[in-house]
Amino acid sequence: MEGPQLFSKDTQALIYNFKPNAVQRMLDFDYLCRRKTPSVAALIEPGSSGLHKVFFGRNEILIPIYPTTEEAAKKHPQADVFINFASFRSAYASSLKALSEKSIKTVVIIAEGVPEREARDLIALSKKMKKIIIGPATVGGIQAGAFKVANTAGTVDNIIESKLHRPGSVGFVSKSGGLSNEMYHMLGMTTDGVFEGIAIGGDAFPGTTLLEHILRFEKMPQVKMIVMLGELGGRDEYDVVDAKKNGTIKKPLVAWVTGTCAKVFPTEVQFGHAGAKSGAQLETAEAKNKALREAGFVVPKSFEDFDKAITATYSDLVKKGVIIPATDIDPPALPADYGEALKAGSVRRPTNFICTISDDRGEEVTYAGVPIGRIVEENRSLGDVISLLWFKKSLPKYGSRLIELVLMIAADHGPCVSGAHNSIVASRAGKDLVSSLASGMLTIGPRFGGAIDDAARYFKDGCDRGLSAEEFVNEMKRKDIRIPGIGHRVKSAKNPDKRVELLKSYAKKNFPKTKYLDFALEVEQETLKKANNLILNVDGCIGILFVDLMCSSGAFSDDEVKEILDIGCLNGLFVLARSIGMIGHVLDQKRLKAPLYRHPYDDVLFMEESKEK
Ligand code: ACO
Ligand code: LMR
Repeated sequence: MEGPQLFSKDTQALIYNFKPNAVQRMLDFDYLCRRKTPSVAALIEPGSSGLHKVFFGRNEILIPIYPTTEEAAKKHPQADVFINFASFRSAYASSLKALSEKSIKTVVIIAEGVPEREARDLIALSKKMKKIIIGPATVGGIQAGAFKVANTAGTVDNIIESKLHRPGSVGFVSKSGGLSNEMYHMLGMTTDGVFEGIAIGGDAFPGTTLLEHILRFEKMPQVKMIVMLGELGGRDEYDVVDAKKNGTIKKPLVAWVTGTCAKVFPTEVQFGHAGAKSGAQLETAEAKNKALREAGFVVPKSFEDFDKAITATYSDLVKKGVIIPATDIDPPALPADYGEALKAGSVRRPTNFICTISDDRGEEVTYAGVPIGRIVEENRSLGDVISLLWFKKSLPKYGSRLIELVLMIAADHGPCVSGAHNSIVASRAGKDLVSSLASGMLTIGPRFGGAIDDAARYFKDGCDRGLSAEEFVNEMKRKDIRIPGIGHRVKSAKNPDKRVELLKSYAKKNFPKTKYLDFALEVEQETLKKANNLILNVDGCIGILFVDLMCSSGAFSDDEVKEILDIGCLNGLFVLARSIGMIGHVLDQKRLKAPLYRHPYDDVLFMEESKEK
């Protein structure tokens, strides 16, 4: 782009270092200005590449990310502004690289703390290359209705209130980025707004000076008056005084130099900006304001009168017909970001999930409303945690202890059972732990470890209906249903299952009542008449004891007992328990580096038959 203007409605930038918020704010400004193209052409993130998703108005667009400035500039030669978010440590090298790219005309260095020597180096190079540096230590600049650098001018509301979504008549230049945003707002209130605003940054050696931008404004017909906000420290403002005296500056200029409060301090004060230190008397705000006033600029008595001085100058220019106030236009309504709108309560959406068992949004996760800190402090058990997360209640001690007993005694039953076998085979096939565990878990079902819920339901139903054990067995036979919880492949009346013995004696010792266990044991007596292995097996025992627990502890309502049996959660006890053993088997095979398992031929009955005619 030629001519005194730095930006236009077609300006595009490359942004160095990934700053998603700054990118979105630029594109939101574009939308308010009704730009047709986004002002960010590409991002540069050393060492990475890809695409960054961002809103351009209502639509989402993808902005490419390149690992180097060279590649980005090559792919986007139309982008002539380089916004450098590098830290003070790498700002020099990255800005040097940008200046060396032919397509880059303006480099904005955001970082504070860039070493003076490096800044002076960059400035010298930029002058030689006839390029512009804004900064270091700046928020950048803006051309109203056209292009803004990163976070310049702040929020969308401030931008609209400051009328920055369309061009005004004022050229504004300042050292301070923060005060610039204030000034944009003041200018929006006191004039028809800014045409272009630049914050040159607060370092002692800014890439471009107050005067350099003022001289650009002199050449820009759109700029009818100039406002300058200087700062104590340095001599930059005296160059402006000289330019007024030699007639270079002709347009009306209203100025103020901040830092007049420094005089109340007994010693020299370093203000926020590196350059804001009034060493010599000449560099004080008073001296500068005095010099500017004597040179013929409009300089108020204090910052508090700055807006009045601006208003008076602007009104005079309007009266003289020098300024035709810009027409106020309403910007397009920018869609609210969903998260913001939700927070503000201006939108609502149905939730997709309901969770009633835990919540991690606070300082610590809660299980059914109990903070984990309290669970630990009160030395609660694993059984308590399972009760809270599965049943959303705390069980009496003997109940949570039953859960732990089940986890301990059903954790494993050797390598030959279905679940262990599949976990072992999958592990020897090279599957990872999770996949091998899942393989074993998939064998849990009505004939292996998954009969707990059915046993609980059938035994409770038979008992509640007052059936005798014999009537119950005969009824199941008539229905041709194998009684869940009865029978075992290797355990029998002669070779009792120790696990079942342990559970039964625990219940007899600790449960207030064992009505349903007693019924199941009567059924067992019936089934043993048929075969020695038709014992109450561990699934059956776990299921029936849980029914006794729920029905005799007083901790569950009848509806809750029904719900728990209907949704079938008791098999979860076997799943949780046996996952411990299955993981053990997987680890065992990994340690053994066991080869791929293959069934021996004599383990298979081959009955191959051909269907071919
Ligand atoms: N109820 C009634 N009769 C049964 C039962 C039962 N639960 N289990 C076996 N029988 C009968 C069979 O009907 C068969 O009778 P039949 O010869 O007149 O046909 C006879 O006993 C032998 O049947 P098999 O299938 O050979 O018995 P097996 O010993 O292989 O079965 C098994 C063991 C799978 C546990 C079986 O008893 C069963 O399915 N039980 C019900 C489901 C169950 O409780 N599973 C959990 C087991 S424990 C655990 O996995 C940790
Ligand atoms: C087990 O707990 O795995 C067993 O009861 C099943 C079996 O076959 O031993």
